Amino acid sequence: MELLLLNGPNLGILGRREPEIYGTDTLADIEEAVQAEVVDRGWKVVSRQHDSEGDLISTIQGAYHTVGAIVNPGALMIAGWSLRDALASYPRPWVEVHLSNVWARESFRHESVIAPLASGVVVGLGALGYRLAARALTELVA
Ligand code: DQA
Repeated sequence: MELLLLNGPNLGILGRREPEIYGTDTLADIEEAVQAEVVDRGWKVVSRQHDSEGDLISTIQGAYHTVGAIVNPGALMIAGWSLRDALASYPRPWVEVHLSNVWARESFRHESVIAPLASGVVVGLGALGYRLAARALTELVA
């Protein structure tokens, strides 16, 4: 059984990207932490990061067999309508994560077109947010 960890544009350079906002954990660190959180459920984390919306959509369409997903859409939260439609067809529970507290930042970050479809949203807790999302999924997935 696989859990999809999906990260959008500019998240492949975590650790080096504006660390004062996004922290120093790399995507590899986050993958490891999420894996540790779900190991007792016997889940294997499949981590994918894409900078383009089309690749994210293809990944989602190829992941209907997964038990659930953690999705950080990056700035596609704001106007990623095609990503939103892909997630609408994803048949399993998924949680939206943002490392930074988007509500405390520029107003263009205050809207998420995907949030209404998520089982829940974790915002502003840094890399811990991914672990909490994974933990939530271990409870949400029957
Ligand atoms: C982000 C927040 C977005 O506004 C931003 O565009 C990102 C990262 C976060 O994790 O805090 O790329 O999703």
